[in-house]
Amino acid sequence: MRRTLAAGNWKMNGDAAMLEALGHLQAPGGDSAPDILICPPSTLLVQAVAASKDSPVSIGGQDCHSAESGAHTGDVSAAMIKATGASAVIVGHSERRGDHAETNADVRAKVEAAWGADLLAILCIGESEVERMGPDTLDIIAAQLDASMPDGATGETLVIAYEPIWAIGTGRVPTLEQIVETHDMIRARLVTRFGSEGDSIRILYGGSVKPSNAAEIFTAENVDGALVGGASLKVADFQPIIDALAAS
Ligand code: 13P
Repeated sequence: MRRTLAAGNWKMNGDAAMLEALGHLQAPGGDSAPDILICPPSTLLVQAVAASKDSPVSIGGQDCHSAESGAHTGDVSAAMIKATGASAVIVGHSERRGDHAETNADVRAKVEAAWGADLLAILCIGESEVERMGPDTLDIIAAQLDASMPDGATGETLVIAYEPIWAIGTGRVPTLEQIVETHDMIRARLVTRFGSEGDSIRILYGGSVKPSNAAEIFTAENVDGALVGGASLKVADFQPIIDALAAS
């Protein structure tokens, strides 16, 4: 059985006071307790690892460069993220793909860099609004998945996050039917490519997940958790999402 994961992506938000609040996040007890991950800005990683030391929260980065080191002003390598004590890194977020023109090939190289540093890679994919309205939505997402994902993925090294771009920060969410159809397609593709290992790779939904809609989203068989932006910034919003996942 796949262990569920509640992951918070703080994006370009966060300060020392927010890190202190991490200590208040609770892992619901029992066998179905989700993994909890917070991905703060890279400047806060060291402090975040220290602040979460005696808590159930793990810490991850939001992006890494594909190279091990070199002349890449402003970037951080996967090994640098690992050295902070973090255990995971998000790659291929649509805001990185959009703001920094990252291609599927770039993202694939970043997943490989994450693996090289022994980090869990959380690989984001998702369609634009125009792509959602067209007839080839699933084919477009499948092509993005195939091209961004290196060979050799396992449930221990890779998590997929399906995040429709039009649902991020908008308060709009796909219908449950659309989420089910997309996650089932991703699962089928993972199993085709990786065999039984594909069944152990977790698939998160992301895009306007809130306490009010989380429980319904988590009813889908192939939704193994959420990648949460805005609602991960406050314990009062993120804790009910964690609890809904534990109850699913
Ligand atoms: P929101 O939850 O704010 O829509 O952001 C989702 C997201 O982009 C997480 O990576």
